[in-house]
Amino acid sequence: MKEVLIIHYSQTGQLTIILENMARTLTGNNITISHYQVVPEPEYGFPWKPTRFYDVFPETFLQIPSDFHPPKPEILEKKYDLVILGYQVWYLTPSIPINSFLKSDFAKKLLKDTPVVSVVACRNMWIQAQEKIKRLLASVDAKLVGHIALVDRHINHISVITIEHWMLSGRKDRYWGIFPKPGISDTDMDNASKFGPPIKKALNVDDFSKLQDELLQLDAARVNPFLVRTDERGNVLFSKWANLLIKKGEPGEPKRLKWIGFFKFYLKFAIWVIAPIVFVVFLLTYLPMTKKRKNERKYYASVALKHTK
Ligand SMILES: Cc1cc2nc3c(=O)[nH]c(=O)nc-3n(C[C@H](O)[C@H](O)[C@H](O)COP(=O)(O)O)c2cc1C
Repeated sequence: MKEVLIIHYSQTGQLTIILENMARTLTGNNITISHYQVVPEPEYGFPWKPTRFYDVFPETFLQIPSDFHPPKPEILEKKYDLVILGYQVWYLTPSIPINSFLKSDFAKKLLKDTPVVSVVACRNMWIQAQEKIKRLLASVDAKLVGHIALVDRHINHISVITIEHWMLSGRKDRYWGIFPKPGISDTDMDNASKFGPPIKKALNVDDFSKLQDELLQLDAARVNPFLVRTDERGNVLFSKWANLLIKKGEPGEPKRLKWIGFFKFYLKFAIWVIAPIVFVVFLLTYLPMTKKRKNERKYYASVALKHTK
């Protein structure tokens, strides 16, 4: 008998559907699947109030944990053969609920010496968030054996507009009737069921060494080299902002909110002015950077962790 635990958090239910589709083809006579949904305390409202949406940035980026409801005793008492960890990206970082869980003693208990498959569903920028997940998993002695990334496939700037509409209105529909639907497409969500069989195969023979290669053949984690650059630059700039904003007071305090207003303005500037400049530099250096790009593609699509910082 194999025991699988699916851990996740999802505000809109998008990730829940993806994981359900995977679980459908993973389940079998000899496989028991348990679920633990991380519920923050207090919960983040959805749809987001605009100020709150930006005000969670400093604590998210600095990976400061906050409270959540603990797993039930029946979840904690089992030893799992595999954990599937579903998460979303907030500000180029794993969301606060998932980060809080991974920094808790519950994560040490549930994940130590346990194979983990991570599943991220986000707008499109997951590369550095996944590096943070790799480090968090290493800190609780978990073994990352697979990674699946589902993204909004529309061009970057279109998805920036549509995700803001979705997050602030709560409606996953076509903004103004002209933009595409935000988030992961229905087809990609349905097709998440294709990842179940290779995971099941590895689980049944207790050998996960080839799993990521098999998942990659199913297009599990497509690395976009331009987004790698943007994510990298974004992390440098976000680090400066987060360290500044955290000193301006507690979430929701008027003095801090004034600064969050500046950050919001800066974010728009970064997306609409800096990102296109990064894109031009990316194009100008396309040929000399060929080897670096190839290496990065290989590394970021893998489950390996570089021993830098
Ligand atoms: C506060 C906040 C910040 C976000 N930042 C990013 C980001 O930096 N990169 C990204 O690809 N998606 C980002 N997203 C989109 C989420 O990753 C995710 O797609 C969306 O919140 C729906 O996920 P859920 O319903 O599973 O919670 C952000 C969402 C929120 C709420």
